[in-house]
Amino acid sequence: MTQRCFLTTPIYYVNGAPHIGHAYTSIAADVLARWKRLDGQEVFFLTGTDEHGQKVEKAAAEAGVEPQEFADRVSADFRDMAGRMGVSYDDFIRTTEPRHKQGCAELWRRMAAAGDIYLGAYEGWYAVRDEAFYDEAELTTRADGVRVGPSGAPVEWVREPSYFFRLSAWQDRLLAFYEANPEFIAPVSRRNEVLSFVRGGLNDLSISRTSFRWGIPVPGDPDHVMYVWLDALANYITALGFPDETAPRFAFWPADLHLVGKEIVRFHAVYWPAFLMAAGLAPPRRVYSHGWWTVEGEKMSKSLGNVIDPRDLAATFGRDAVRYFLLREVPFGNDGDFSRRGLVTRLNTELANDLGNLAQRSLSLIARNCASLLPERAAPTEADAALLEQAAALVGRIGLLLDRQAFQDALEEAWRVVRAANTYIDHQAPWALRKTDLARMGAVLRVLADTLRVLATVLSPFMPESMARMLDQLGVPAGARRLADLATPLPGGIVLPPPAGVFPRFVDDAV
Ligand code: MSP
Repeated sequence: MTQRCFLTTPIYYVNGAPHIGHAYTSIAADVLARWKRLDGQEVFFLTGTDEHGQKVEKAAAEAGVEPQEFADRVSADFRDMAGRMGVSYDDFIRTTEPRHKQGCAELWRRMAAAGDIYLGAYEGWYAVRDEAFYDEAELTTRADGVRVGPSGAPVEWVREPSYFFRLSAWQDRLLAFYEANPEFIAPVSRRNEVLSFVRGGLNDLSISRTSFRWGIPVPGDPDHVMYVWLDALANYITALGFPDETAPRFAFWPADLHLVGKEIVRFHAVYWPAFLMAAGLAPPRRVYSHGWWTVEGEKMSKSLGNVIDPRDLAATFGRDAVRYFLLREVPFGNDGDFSRRGLVTRLNTELANDLGNLAQRSLSLIARNCASLLPERAAPTEADAALLEQAAALVGRIGLLLDRQAFQDALEEAWRVVRAANTYIDHQAPWALRKTDLARMGAVLRVLADTLRVLATVLSPFMPESMARMLDQLGVPAGARRLADLATPLPGGIVLPPPAGVFPRFVDDAV
């Protein structure tokens, strides 16, 4: 049976425009989705927008439009961003869709039927920007006297009737679950944070609000709207057709991976599995939390005016260069700094020079010296075999690394082969063989073409457009670009299209 794989991004708040932080989570998830498809798996890749709650209601009011109209506009912008960054989602869910509202209400009913929801009153701190409740002990006071939560978001004191989820009762079961599933939260630093948070004891969680209206009504008590995080997390099952557990899509549950930023781990790794278990559903298999980007050393913020739209970057540098940079620059779990100079350097050295030139040199030699015909494979020399074996081993290595969301290491593995191939071409000097040993020249160029084919295949999830162009130039048929197809050599003698550079060097006046 084909292996199934369900991957998700967080659903993005529609209070503001998409920026590189959002693109980052989506591109990372996209690379995994594309890799799994290349591997022949049946993938369901979900993204979408989180449209309810006080924060969105407030942003709409500031813009002077109704929340729904505002959400429609910003959600469309996120969809456009995903499209332009090459995010190959299978479904884009919006929490204002009827399918979501119905499924979410049913999740509530199941949690209530299990005795895990009760009516009380909430009194405490709330940060609208984070849509999160904080304990007194988590707060600090800013220089201007404003009380802020751990993220720096101002808090306000709220006091209102509220339904609660009996989270306190789930402490032991959650700890047992983490214990039995050591891979559930990654990287390990985040796992430790979550463990110590849960070990510290859990308070019941306020899961409804009465002080504003922009949310899903609580079943049976429409004075309340559901807490936006309960609403949002439910997207991962409502998109699969929940509550219809017989829907073909529902076979994708439990999710193989929720990719999230580090600030929202608690919601995914503590609240979400507890909600699901309370409703009698299986928790997801894994939550991976990545780090945060700053821009040129500073936190991205509207007030600093340094918020970067990934679409602008793509227009300037090419979509694939941006995708590559984001996953190459820092280890996935760590924070990183985005700089224009850093991006240009990687584009020019690693993409244009190391990989682009390698392909360009090899392919133009074939065009010029072999009448554009792919040379036959020949009995390999030791040097040939060494390079070909290193290339062949890439598929397995990258697969294992991507299963751990180690994008940077995966790219580093690929670049080891790129560098080895550059050394190989320099040592073999096929341009010189033209006059001395035509057969050997052909053999060398074929080794290079085969190595490039592996590279372009394993790199295609990262850089789909440019690697597709490279595969075109290598004569690899569009229907034979999966990992498994690498086992079948291309026939010698096929005509290759004229080579054209895949990564133009970027000459930056601003640097
Ligand atoms: N709506 C919630 C998620 C609900 S999921 C059930 C939310 N939305 S968000 O729009 O604020 O952020 C979504 C994602 O963008 C998070 O994974 C977050 O880490 C990521 N990023 C937002 N800013 C970021 C950076 N500056 N750097 C890296 N990622 C950041 O949270």
